Amino acid sequence: MVDTIITQGQTDVIGAMDNSELDNTTQVESKASIHRDARDTVGEPFSKSPRMTCRNVNVFYGEKQAIHDVSVDIGANEVIAMIGPSGCGKSTFLRCLNRMNDTVDSCRVQGDIHMNNDDIYNKNMDVVLLRARVGMVFQKPNPFPKSIYDNIAYGPRIHGLTKNKVELDEVVESSLKRAGLWTEVKDRLDQPGTGLSGGQQQRLCIARAIAVSPDVILMDEPCSALDPIATAHIEDLIDELRQNFTIAIVTHSMQQAARVSQRTAYFHLGYLIEVGQTDQVFTNPKHQLTEDYITGRFG
Ligand SMILES: Nc1ncnc2c1ncn2[C@@H]1O[C@H](COP(=O)(O)OP(=O)(O)OP(=O)(O)O)[C@@H](O)[C@H]1O
Ligand SMILES: [Mg+2]
Repeated sequence: MVDTIITQGQTDVIGAMDNSELDNTTQVESKASIHRDARDTVGEPFSKSPRMTCRNVNVFYGEKQAIHDVSVDIGANEVIAMIGPSGCGKSTFLRCLNRMNDTVDSCRVQGDIHMNNDDIYNKNMDVVLLRARVGMVFQKPNPFPKSIYDNIAYGPRIHGLTKNKVELDEVVESSLKRAGLWTEVKDRLDQPGTGLSGGQQQRLCIARAIAVSPDVILMDEPCSALDPIATAHIEDLIDELRQNFTIAIVTHSMQQAARVSQRTAYFHLGYLIEVGQTDQVFTNPKHQLTEDYITGRFG
């Protein structure tokens, strides 16, 4: 497996190619049966027990369309990895799931996204509450300029989730424990969160997301700023968190997608090309574009 990032320019070349441009070896080796010009999603985009359902989602930045007619479920208690070349719309799609794109003026989202039975784009949806139910962890750890304790206590306080200090202390402790950070910080809860190492800060941000008991956690390349040890720590954590949460993770690392996810979704130039069990997508992709990407053929 090759861990590769393909540039936008290179993907344009992929899109422009047809079979006649491939050499014979490539055609013989290819097991994928869906031609690279096809753009309908292949595989298993839907789940028997969906936590979120997305149907015919289109996203525009001004006139430019970034996401084309994406329909997919995010299943309960699964980790779904979203992979694909840079600029293919992974972050844009992820941000649709908790309406983070609302903060981008030029961005317009069409289609239907439900969480459990709630239409998250309904005009009556409380967006602050939605973002507690669908938490987010970003590429660069972004602790608040507050103490470690207050970073975790912030969400439960603004949402009124605890009745008193004892309960709040319990939520802070259990969130830090579940994020695997408690033993490292329990003696310095009053110190600034920004004083922790990068890997610790990212676990602090995960603890902060967990503290409000979300249903879903979105992670956009959560390990890309971390060293291999901190990355391994977060990956272990993702696996444990799956018991209680649903996780959608964008990653450029195919090894990481293979290690942490049960399903993988491959995006290409704004289209959702293939979704399937992670093992199947990596060993036996149905779509030639998926195969091209995972084999690094155009990397
Ligand atoms: N705020 C924005 N304004 C205008 N266009 C944007 C904005 N954010 C993203 N885009 C465009 O939307 C497309 C998808 O971008 P997006 O960031 O979702 O891709 P990505 O797959 O997450 O890429 P990467 O792997 O590099 O993070 C790109 O063409 C990008 O230039
Ligand atoms: Mg991105």
